[in-house]
Amino acid sequence: MARGRFITLEGGEGVGKSTQARALAAALEARGISVLLTREPGGSAGAEAIRGLLLSGDADRWSTRAEALLFAAARGDHVEKTIMPAVDAGKWVICDRFLDSSRAYQSATGELTDGDIVALHEVGSRGLLPDRTLLLALPGGEAEQRARARDGGMADRIGGRDADFHAAVDAAFVRFAEEEADRFRKIDASGSPDEVTLRLLAALDDWLA
Ligand code: TMP
Repeated sequence: MARGRFITLEGGEGVGKSTQARALAAALEARGISVLLTREPGGSAGAEAIRGLLLSGDADRWSTRAEALLFAAARGDHVEKTIMPAVDAGKWVICDRFLDSSRAYQSATGELTDGDIVALHEVGSRGLLPDRTLLLALPGGEAEQRARARDGGMADRIGGRDADFHAAVDAAFVRFAEEEADRFRKIDASGSPDEVTLRLLAALDDWLA
């Protein structure tokens, strides 16, 4: 059986990633492709349990280092139990956030380097990289407004951090996309949801012919 594909969706808060992950999965299934839609943190029983630890509780519940280790542990379980079995079975896996979220968020305070996060990923997930990463990007102010409208002041432990933190996250994503142009495609997330889904499909068109 042919190996499937591993596609990740990335971006800061409020860019519409989760809506687009669902829409992209449906559009690929309509083309006869067998899809597994999953998300991080989470996507396996163990990783969903770690998600609860990571996203709830006080802002200072975890140190930056402990938080990075928990994300890496959740990802390791998700890769082993969910992602690799599906890819090996020929499915196209669409994952809402993956390693690049850890690289962007857990290094945004400056305490950990990108190299630190990548080293944890080598241990936790044998360094697995997506075949393609679709980065959804919106002008900063617009994303913040959308996130506020969605969360109504109830953002999770990490989403609720200040604007400087999220600006550092957004800048890191853009930098990764520029540095790893083979793996990344930067997608304009403005306009209607249907327009954005068409842009995502266009970024996979070399595989869809
Ligand atoms: P979500 O809003 O996409 O469900 O993600 C939950 C939060 O977790 C979001 O604020 C981003 C954050 N996050 C990290 O900080 N590092 C990671 O590795 C992942 C996957 C998410």
